[in-house]
Amino acid sequence: MPKLSLKRFKSRRMTLPPESDCARDTSDSPDTDRQRCWYIKPMFDFWQSLLAALERIVMLPSLIHSVFPSLSSRKRTRDAVRSYDRTMDDLLREVQRLFEAPLEPAKLLQMSGRLQEQFAPKLQASNICMLPSYNDKLPTGLEQGTYLALDVGGSTFRVAVVELSGKQAGAKSMRIVTMKSYAINNPVRYLRGTAFFDWMAQKIEAAIVDPQVQRINGTKSFGMGLAWSFPVEQTSIRSGNLLAMGKGFRATEGTLGQDLSELIMAPCRKRNLPVHMESIVNDASATLLSRAYEDPATRFAVILGTGFNIAVHLPTSALATSKYNGYPQKWIDHATHVLVNTELSMFGKNVFPTTRWDDLLNENHVRPDFQPFEHMISGRYLGEIVRLIVVEAVRTAGLFSGELPEKLAEPYSLETGTVAAIEMDESKNFTQAIALFQSKHALSKPPSYKDISFLRQVSQLVSHRAAAYLAAGIHSLWNLRIQSEGLSANEAGRLAIGCNGSVIEKYPHFRELCQTHLDELTIASGAEPHSISLEIAVESAIFGAAVAVCCLDA
Ligand code: GLC
Repeated sequence: MPKLSLKRFKSRRMTLPPESDCARDTSDSPDTDRQRCWYIKPMFDFWQSLLAALERIVMLPSLIHSVFPSLSSRKRTRDAVRSYDRTMDDLLREVQRLFEAPLEPAKLLQMSGRLQEQFAPKLQASNICMLPSYNDKLPTGLEQGTYLALDVGGSTFRVAVVELSGKQAGAKSMRIVTMKSYAINNPVRYLRGTAFFDWMAQKIEAAIVDPQVQRINGTKSFGMGLAWSFPVEQTSIRSGNLLAMGKGFRATEGTLGQDLSELIMAPCRKRNLPVHMESIVNDASATLLSRAYEDPATRFAVILGTGFNIAVHLPTSALATSKYNGYPQKWIDHATHVLVNTELSMFGKNVFPTTRWDDLLNENHVRPDFQPFEHMISGRYLGEIVRLIVVEAVRTAGLFSGELPEKLAEPYSLETGTVAAIEMDESKNFTQAIALFQSKHALSKPPSYKDISFLRQVSQLVSHRAAAYLAAGIHSLWNLRIQSEGLSANEAGRLAIGCNGSVIEKYPHFRELCQTHLDELTIASGAEPHSISLEIAVESAIFGAAVAVCCLDA
């Protein structure tokens, strides 16, 4: 097996000095630190033991705390009298070992194989993953029309008029004529049952009263396409039963299993809105459709933002016939392929090795084990994994001189966007990264160069692992596809993957790293070099919602 060579990372990332016995470096100059260490540490140890002994005097705890008020908040404040279990370098070395060891190609291939074993029973029977749609054909790219596209994401609801004009020389084939975005904040996310769909109808109304929209459609009823960033059990091309929603939503309370189309259309009718539902697709499937409209080699789509999912165009025979219960005979007779929403986020338990920080995240999650793959790679969790390591580093290795910024004690307070921006600062002094961290998580004294360097390296390890695990996930589905097409790896040909979502589109070096691992895995499996390419599909959910409607008209 060829040795994984990630030169960018190996050269830029792990800049660990040789083992140092100084517990805490506070200046940017390692020499000064080492000179100071020899006397600071014994002095710290002395004070540390004295304070610990005093605290152990149970008879007088309140007296101690009133005489030494700083004791009670000692853990939170920059502490001059503290020694730590180990150095930051030691901890970083451990993090590196835990996060990098699984990334060898042989190990990733093994994970890919184990994922395929997990797929097998779900392709036979499961009503939450490996969900077939009614979309059998992919678009030709010649379809035309103007549609109202709805995109319900984890944090935004968007309503757009989308114009598809087919392939025309020198012109864009897809265009957003007008679009309104509505934030889905916690009060909206927590709307229960039909209240959430009433809110949606209210926003659809607000969007279509726009004179520009009125001019486009006149008095006609608008055909709507919906991209839904949650699982849905399709019952026809334009309807589907509501399945459990992750991402903190409560819209399923009292509505679980009901028809999603009807849940949206009922409040729209109450408001006399000139709209009708033409198509419902999961957002990953929408991404595939929108990318396929432009590139006929597209067979996969990856969504990796707050959530994670992959849609694949597979031969219908890849799924058991029971998966098509209720499908019209006509569909079953003529469909050769089917667009499948894999809900890949739900796989991977006991496949991907976890660290103690992953385990902690899972234990404290509202739905432990529900989406194990998503927990390791999506934008909702990357910052949280880094935060858990940071908290441990502050407490045990003296990161930030032992001061934990108050907010950072709260779960999910370190945003993935923040760690991405910190990784992005490749300057000599990390000036921007330091300022950013201080503005988001103020410390009594700004973090040192060493603190930020630690944070950057930890987040690089966390995000690199995510990119490699994503490659293993894509490889497993690629294998499923070629096997079910009856192809060998070298016959598989070129395959394009439409990619959408903040992590895959914007996280520094993420897509390139994933592509590197993917090339290694596919070549190791016998494919031609560059047979899979990860391509950004901009605004794909909203475009895909329209393409899905337009495929019906063709
Ligand atoms: C979540 C949902 C899935 C969606 C993905 C991306 O994992 O379960 O349906 O496609 O996020 O938004």
